[in-house]
Amino acid sequence: MSAMDLSSAAFPVNTPKFWGDEKELVANCIETGWISSEGPAVKKFEAKLASKCGRRHAIACANGTAALDIAVKALQLGKGDEVILPSFCIISVITQVVRGGSVPVLVDSDSTFNMDVAQIRERLTPRTKAIICVHTYHFPVDMEPVLALVKERGIKVIEDAAEMIGQTCLGRPCGSFGDISTMSFYPNKHITTGEGGMVLCDAPDLAERCQQLRNLCFDPKKRRFVHEELGWNYRMTNLQAALGLGQLSHLEEAVSRKREIGRLYTKLLEGCPGLILPPDKNQKSESNIYWVYGVEVAPSVSCDADAVMKRLAAAKVGTRPFFWPMHEQPVFEPMGFFKGQSFPVAERIARRGFYIPSGLALEDHEVEEVARRIRKVMEEIVSADGGYSK
Ligand SMILES: Cc1ncc(COP(=O)(O)O)c(C=O)c1O
Repeated sequence: MSAMDLSSAAFPVNTPKFWGDEKELVANCIETGWISSEGPAVKKFEAKLASKCGRRHAIACANGTAALDIAVKALQLGKGDEVILPSFCIISVITQVVRGGSVPVLVDSDSTFNMDVAQIRERLTPRTKAIICVHTYHFPVDMEPVLALVKERGIKVIEDAAEMIGQTCLGRPCGSFGDISTMSFYPNKHITTGEGGMVLCDAPDLAERCQQLRNLCFDPKKRRFVHEELGWNYRMTNLQAALGLGQLSHLEEAVSRKREIGRLYTKLLEGCPGLILPPDKNQKSESNIYWVYGVEVAPSVSCDADAVMKRLAAAKVGTRPFFWPMHEQPVFEPMGFFKGQSFPVAERIARRGFYIPSGLALEDHEVEEVARRIRKVMEEIVSADGGYSK
């Protein structure tokens, strides 16, 4: 968008970026006829991502939710098993845990929005079979204590690295920590395939199991169309993988651009009344990856995130609310989960947090215009509140 038309421009919450080489790769699928999951780009995309994450196996699939479904099923989490996960996360993390008959056990978030790993030990029981770590928005989960704990107790880890593609933790790539790790390539991710996901692991038997689950549990040892088990059609198409290959060759640029956008927002919004900005660094982990630029409405402000987002929508600034905690989801009420449980940090950030336009295609002058509008709206809100002295 040119600098001139910005005053009346609308800014969507996400604008994906294409680097140029994707077009030819996708066109090649059409020219060669390789458009289903059978094409060569799928295997190339899997190999390239596995190598970027230091994993032996990668299994491309339909989306990040599908990758999590496969992970939970492949690790044989089933009836009566307890699975520890954060209350503050997307519903995709818990869906197959519940459908498969396991018991979800929640922990609260810490100041980074990630699961508070200190609470995991308190939630362990002899039935705990796995922990799902979900790197959220800015920083990775504090993996060191989690890894020590699972080694000591012999439990499994699923690492949801959907929002941290290209991030590191303890000097290792995110996506390298789980018995199974998962990713999503939805258009707001660092690399996109439109819709898409990946399962990553090292054990060959797990990889084979994940491939089977992705493909309707076809059994190569049996006659075709004879099944011993039910799986899913969670395959990724060659068209999507071709797009992913083009995107993946720009991962480092994407990560560095996201950090530039994040740091520019912070510079422009520093001191903005009523907004708490995300830190660039964190004592325990790497620099903020700014998957999104998430902010909190300060406790001194009388209205919550919903009201601020409405005002920003009127100013044509797209926003998205933070996740809604799992223990407050209506869908789990009739199932009897989480009755009477409270996770104060998750509850607070769900009500006070939202994120602002964070797409990779944002240009500096657009970030400047967005920040200007946000500052104006926040100044109006805080001044109507009677200022900070109230
Ligand atoms: C952490 C996390 N996990 C899983 C998902 C689900 O991915 P998908 O939308 O590809 O199903 C998302 C989606 O944004 C996510 O942010």
